[in-house]
Amino acid sequence: MLETDKVFAGSIPENYDRHMVPLIFEPYAADLAQRAASLSPGAVLETAAGTGVVTRALAPKLSPGARYVVSDLNQPMLDYAASRQGPDGRIQWRQADALALPFEDAAFDLVCCQFGAMFFPDRPAAYREAKRVLKPGGHFLFSVWDRIEENVFADDVTNALAEIFPNDPPRFLARTPHGYHDKDLIRSDLEAAGFSHVAIVTRAEQSRAPSPRFPAIAYCQGTVLRSEIEARDPGKLQAATDYAASVLADRHGTGEVAAKIQAHIIVALA
Ligand SMILES: C[S@@+](CC[C@H](N)C(=O)[O-])C[C@H]1O[C@@H](n2cnc3c(N)ncnc32)[C@H](O)[C@@H]1O
Repeated sequence: MLETDKVFAGSIPENYDRHMVPLIFEPYAADLAQRAASLSPGAVLETAAGTGVVTRALAPKLSPGARYVVSDLNQPMLDYAASRQGPDGRIQWRQADALALPFEDAAFDLVCCQFGAMFFPDRPAAYREAKRVLKPGGHFLFSVWDRIEENVFADDVTNALAEIFPNDPPRFLARTPHGYHDKDLIRSDLEAAGFSHVAIVTRAEQSRAPSPRFPAIAYCQGTVLRSEIEARDPGKLQAATDYAASVLADRHGTGEVAAKIQAHIIVALA
């Protein structure tokens, strides 16, 4: 992972929430919220919460007396999440690095994290922090994307951009969001951090969009891929987006489009 891969700032929070969230994050957020609520936690920490898609799904399912701390490394993502959440006295917004959590030991019943672990530069260290802030018997619930070939629009966009920049293809999507999918590695990272009873479920969903242009804009302009394209040629963002849209249209049609996405959902016992 490059240092810049974890910088979700500038125009990314708004584009991320408007385009990426409905495209691929919403179905998994509903599932994660359901799994989290079924554990009936009294105190919840969410890390790498982004623009709050899980928070919006989970908060209504928690008990009236629950405490819900919602955190992310990047304050602009958290600001966006807070702006979309109705007033809720149970929620506390807190900028926090998942590798150095500013919380006491054994403070939470549940730590949850949707599609954040791929961005952590040292996952065993992040897992040790999750374990430290969990009560004994608490749960760590999180998700990661499966390999890019199982996530069709992301793969198509990555291949299209490789044609535009053949000497230095922007590989952010393959390298980082889709770069941590080995189930044996995930299990051993968790066990090294002291977790037990690791269960991993692989779940396929459909990514749906009103047109092929929508996923092209989502990936090229609503993720760190945008910075990668602009770093190669600041004037080429629109042309790169247009080319990705034309490749998606050739493969999936010009009307509404749908394609497979796939992720691993992991739960471990502290
Ligand atoms: C793909 S987004 C996922 C956001 C949200 N959970 C969702 O499902 O839409 C990854 C998030 O990880 C955050 N992030 C990256 N590195 C982090 C770290 N070390 N600690 C906490 N959050 C981090 C980013 O700011 C970004 O919001």
